[in-house]
Amino acid sequence: MERTFAIIKPDAVSKKLAGQILARIEAAGFTVVAMRLQHLTKAEAEGFYAVHQARPFFGALTDFMSSGPCVLLCLEAPDAIKQWRALMGATDPAKAEPGTLRKDFGASIDNNATHGSDAPETAAFELGYFFRGLELR
Ligand code: CMP
Repeated sequence: MERTFAIIKPDAVSKKLAGQILARIEAAGFTVVAMRLQHLTKAEAEGFYAVHQARPFFGALTDFMSSGPCVLLCLEAPDAIKQWRALMGATDPAKAEPGTLRKDFGASIDNNATHGSDAPETAAFELGYFFRGLELR
């Protein structure tokens, strides 16, 4: 078993797609270990995406991620990191495979509905950034 960190981003929450995305997550076999609705501050979004701070899209990304509530998740499954990335599809919805969440629910590379950790080290950092140990037992 493996755990990964996932976000249903503000665009998807504001379009009332969170329930559909959660249903797809459960249908794909993931167990929801922890879940919280949270409206991030700009500073919280900047800390979360610190790895991208030199990228030209950092300001727009952190503005968007702090623009409304999102759903923060710890998901568990065999090979969860890879499997969640497969269910999301490519970062840019225009390049995502049919049947993936970003293809079905994302509008653009900025408003792409979901986030997922890309490696075990990132998952450990991202889960620890938002969840307390007690929530992840
Ligand atoms: P996410 O998986 O949350 O990780 C960083 C986010 O930055 C990414 O999804 C996109 O929504 C956003 N982004 C905007 N422009 C780019 C880009 N050129 N390359 C990668 N990510 C981008």
